Amino acid sequence: MSGSAKRSITISLDGTNKSSTLPLMDGTIGPAVADIRRLYGDLGIFTYDPGYGATAACESKITYIDGDEGVLLYRGYPIEQLAEHSTFIEVAYLLMNGELPKPTELKEFEFGVLRHTMLHEQIRQFYNGFRRDAHPMAVMCGVVGALSAFYHDSLDINNPESRRISAFRLIAKMPTIAAWAHKYNIGQPFMYPRNDLGYAENFLYMFNAVPAEPFKVNPILARAMDLIMILHADHEQNASTSTVRLAGSTGANPFACIAAGIASLWGPAHGGANEAVLKMLAEIGHVRNIPEFLSEVKDKGSHTKLMGFGHRVYKNYDPRAKIIQKACHEVLGELGIKGDPLLDLALELEKIALNDKYFVDRKLYPNVDFYSGIILKAMGFPTSMFTALFAVSRTVGWISQWSEMIEDPEQRIGRPRQIYTGAAQRDYVTPGRRG
Ligand code: SDX
Repeated sequence: MSGSAKRSITISLDGTNKSSTLPLMDGTIGPAVADIRRLYGDLGIFTYDPGYGATAACESKITYIDGDEGVLLYRGYPIEQLAEHSTFIEVAYLLMNGELPKPTELKEFEFGVLRHTMLHEQIRQFYNGFRRDAHPMAVMCGVVGALSAFYHDSLDINNPESRRISAFRLIAKMPTIAAWAHKYNIGQPFMYPRNDLGYAENFLYMFNAVPAEPFKVNPILARAMDLIMILHADHEQNASTSTVRLAGSTGANPFACIAAGIASLWGPAHGGANEAVLKMLAEIGHVRNIPEFLSEVKDKGSHTKLMGFGHRVYKNYDPRAKIIQKACHEVLGELGIKGDPLLDLALELEKIALNDKYFVDRKLYPNVDFYSGIILKAMGFPTSMFTALFAVSRTVGWISQWSEMIEDPEQRIGRPRQIYTGAAQRDYVTPGRRG
């Protein structure tokens, strides 16, 4: 581990003369970590942390979040500055390589990505196996997992060149796979990628164009798409990234690991929340129904959540939500959409919730998913595509974190322990003697 251990903590076990002195490792910024690897050997005990809310599973140099201050840094750069000045392809380079690229480096990187945007023609057949109304995330899980069957030349995870090619292939093909999932849903022909277009523009082209006529991507939408992709690119050790790392720790190939990440992201508590926010707003229907809905949320027995609110790490406003909310107003204005009832409802819901003691006491603020669905809907995406778009963007973060894990000399197969509270050992009882 590259952090420094200048301090330590000592744990003593009540009723014994045993104690364990654990090195306290300091990172660049953020909380120090107690290295507990010797704890079981010293005291014969495990730590218990369901949901890993207080557990550092790895060392990373990629993304830093300060949940109390609402800070998000990609390789040290604030998300607000990257959102304003950068592009998704430049952020992809930054997350993968650790530094902002020189112009020649960026040009070479973008050329490399754009040269992998096409899919093997056989992969088209996979789509035909799905029902037309298959959820795009089901298609993404299946098709991305199947990529392992096509790229035997880049499955050696211990070969840096293989890792680099696999990263390029995944980053480049995800927009094609997602756009084709949508085209399959609506029964239109697949559109092949165009390497004369930028990353986000190419995706919008494949998503919207038809072979019957020329199609020019609206530059306002292209910029909004690029911004949304920047904001969703990485986010420290979230559930889907941890899934990718855990799958990768077994030596599974990168395509299988990213398919696992897609499956994990799909859940409504995680990346599926953007789709759930739109369903929630549709169910609320009108500002007058907000008080009744919030009463239902506060009733634990209802199991109703205020989707798009709350976060394991952010106990303040998610900085990405602020940026997307601002972009909502800009994009809707530039598109000439005068007042979006969904946006108006969301803004009122946020205002009421942020002044409600229940949410204030629990430090529940809007997260990235609260506004992303509204802007995506205004851009013409069906709700079912929202999480697929999240997966396209997060693939850069997943593959960056996966590579970092493979290159980490301390990485081992992930294998958490447990506290066992089941039956103590007992003998088999023959059927005739069971009570
Ligand atoms: C993402 O981890 C990441 O970084 C994820 C992500 C990324 O970029 O990768 O940021 C993307 O997944 C954003 C989160 C999207 N999910 C949602 O919007 C779904 C709604 N949110 C909740 O399900 C919840 O807030 C979580 C899952 C996001 C966080 O869950 P935690 O950390 O386990 O929170 P908790 O359950 O400990 O909540 C503390 C309290 C509880 O109440 P009490 O038991 O103390 O009375 O807050 C309540 C919870 O019941 N609570 C909510 C709530 N979220 C938490 N109550 C109502 N509505 C909510 N949304």
